[in-house]
Amino acid sequence: MKKILTGAKPTGEGLHLGNYLGMFKWLIDNSRWKDAYLMIADYHSLTSVHDAETLKSHKKRMLCEFFALMPDDLQITIFEQSKITQINNITWILSSVTPYSLMLRAHTFKDNNAKNSDINMATFNYPILMASDIITYDIDLVPVGKDQKQHMEFARDIAWNFNKTYNTDLFKLPEPFISEEVGLITGLDGRKMSKSYGNHIWVFDSPKILKKKVMSIITWSEWLEEPKDPEKCNVFSLIKFFATPEKQEEIAKKYRAGNYGYGHAKLELLEILNEYFGEARKKYEYYTQNFSEIEKKLEIWNKKVDAMATKKYKKMMEIIWL
Ligand code: TRP
Repeated sequence: MKKILTGAKPTGEGLHLGNYLGMFKWLIDNSRWKDAYLMIADYHSLTSVHDAETLKSHKKRMLCEFFALMPDDLQITIFEQSKITQINNITWILSSVTPYSLMLRAHTFKDNNAKNSDINMATFNYPILMASDIITYDIDLVPVGKDQKQHMEFARDIAWNFNKTYNTDLFKLPEPFISEEVGLITGLDGRKMSKSYGNHIWVFDSPKILKKKVMSIITWSEWLEEPKDPEKCNVFSLIKFFATPEKQEEIAKKYRAGNYGYGHAKLELLEILNEYFGEARKKYEYYTQNFSEIEKKLEIWNKKVDAMATKKYKKMMEIIWL
């Protein structure tokens, strides 16, 4: 059975529609008949979050979101990176056979280094820990955003380097899966949806904020009577991701027929989003009130993944003769 894993850093913001479509939905749609893992990369967030209370609340929010979006009948193992006792030992051993020159090429390190006067070492070592997150569990496929493409190449290089140095096949080389859809989802201003443009819609925006955002989507200024081309409309491009094919066709017809304004389309999109995420919103509210239910599940899953990592670590130690 194929193994898939992805991870997300609890940096504070929630999932926006672009993240949801790019990573989460793919994971859900592709998890059946696969062994699937979703990791909270909390050690990774230490590169930028240094306030304990803040990190705690970020993690809580992210976990509630994940559990809320997960269909009840789907078995995806959700776990915390920091509960994997050997993960940093594995990272240390891997870092011992990872060339410095390779790590110097990391875009995230270069960008961070250019922006800040003194970055921390964890920012530099970030890709090695990420490689451990993946290769420790013999993962086949890793769904990630385009920004993680280089990290995935590093994970493969790091696994390959270890195997070559010790003449072993201990680590499987993982494949990235980079969804093309993420690049296509447009934000409120028609540009790609991204936190850095501030044009995003959070999956768990309250109905009031969601309405405000949807109504503010930038559209053309044609007359109401005029027939319109749905394919050229930012509102319709969002409708396409969340409405059933029948509903899409019905709305497209209205655009083309005329006497249908962008305001109408926005209200329709609002209804579609409310319906699409309605169940998840209720679950989100529930989990924020009943967080201990999440903690109970996590404890079991953390243990399961921890045992897998320990097994790999022991094999690694045998190979390096320690
Ligand atoms: N670096 C990833 C990000 O910023 C998060 C991450 C950490 C991750 N470990 C991972 C993603 C392992 C996939 C697999 O989005």
